[in-house]
Amino acid sequence: MEDDFLKLALGLIKSSEDHERYRGEECINLIASEGLKSPAVNEILSLSQDLESRYAEGENDLAGHVKARHYQGQKYITKIENYAADLMKNLFGCNWADVRLVSGTHANLATFKGVSLATKNNRMVVLPLSAGAHISHDYSGLAGRVLGLETINHAYDIDELNIDSEKSATIIDTARPGIVTFGGSVFPFPHPVKELAEVAKETGAYVVYDAAHVLGLIAGGEFQDPFGEGVDFITASTHKTFPGPQGGVILANCEDERMKKAIKKVQHAVFPLSASSTHLGRLPALGLAALELKLYGKELAKQTIKNAQTAGKYLFENGVKVLGRKNGFTRSHQIAVDVRDYGGGQKLAFSLEDAHIVLNKNLLPYDNQHNHGDPSGLRIGFQDVTRRGFKENDIERLCSLILDVMKGKRTRAEVRKDVIKLRQSFKDIKYGFQSINEAKEHLRKYV
Ligand SMILES: Cc1ncc(COP(=O)(O)O)c(C=O)c1O
Repeated sequence: MEDDFLKLALGLIKSSEDHERYRGEECINLIASEGLKSPAVNEILSLSQDLESRYAEGENDLAGHVKARHYQGQKYITKIENYAADLMKNLFGCNWADVRLVSGTHANLATFKGVSLATKNNRMVVLPLSAGAHISHDYSGLAGRVLGLETINHAYDIDELNIDSEKSATIIDTARPGIVTFGGSVFPFPHPVKELAEVAKETGAYVVYDAAHVLGLIAGGEFQDPFGEGVDFITASTHKTFPGPQGGVILANCEDERMKKAIKKVQHAVFPLSASSTHLGRLPALGLAALELKLYGKELAKQTIKNAQTAGKYLFENGVKVLGRKNGFTRSHQIAVDVRDYGGGQKLAFSLEDAHIVLNKNLLPYDNQHNHGDPSGLRIGFQDVTRRGFKENDIERLCSLILDVMKGKRTRAEVRKDVIKLRQSFKDIKYGFQSINEAKEHLRKYV
């Protein structure tokens, strides 16, 4: 074998080991779109190696269960997919789920495609990118460039950091879209679904709620109740505030002919239109994460939100422009901060990274939506540190380290030492099981 090839392989193995230590042990992770799996969820993922190699193409029924498979060897795979779907249905109080999606973007693709086939209408109302839409909602991403949807923006109220429901009602009524979406990547406050779902449905639209960021908070009953407020479909990633394996899910209630028609089209958009391998190895881990949220989701969501609010208040009291002050900065896992006074989002995100505080730059609602390169803001998420056991005083300590970097009070090398020390004083992962056996023992007490 050539030397170069050997070096590549060695480099790959070493970089993987380095990464696990760096992000897993030496950094404080505040990226709002990432999740933290429990030891039990990691264990069941590592036990699902055969499943990880298999295929299960086919069709599902209107309960979200396997109906037909086109390969052999499916006797347990079918059960696993049905159990995972049923655990998700139970957790979110709905009667249909599709767990075949490999990501949140895939969930959006299948839902937007399926619903637009059902309505024969290619107009979709979405948040503006700068106000927190995900790129998959936008004309410049999946929705426009791949699916050919015409996107029309919701009206956004910068002071409220939320959709302006009165103005959006007029926009929806005038545009008569096939889909009205809610949810996004910057998502500090519950969207006015209650106020707008009826308006959307009266125009013939389906209401799609992208819960990628807030799925775990919804499971804990601490954000908003999308189905109760009139949503038709929830799409999501399963690895952000929902602390499961990387993947996606679509949820709905199959309750009348209107929903049956759309669900059938969405299923068709999953298979055969957009999936072949559905990455089966993640399904046991998805179900186990659902169990953890059923048991500990409320407590986890409450503490996550409390931590985010504590950070908003602390940074604000120390002179930082935290958005959403009027409404207590946030009611989710994340805050948005204007850092133009400290060199802008790009520069500050790099400085903090150098101190091992990992977060990301972000467009703010008043930014030019094309200025991705150097936006005004940072988005900071608290779901990872909360799962590691951070409480309000730990969050204040962490914020004081952020401020040290922001305000250049100490060198980044000095701050880095304290960040590593703080990180290493939180060894455990809370609000979940430490092993599969622990989960089984817990379940056996009841079954
Ligand atoms: C609102 C929203 N939707 C969808 C996605 C895409 O999810 P995934 O990364 O699982 O494809 C994201 C990603 O962060 C997101 O923020």
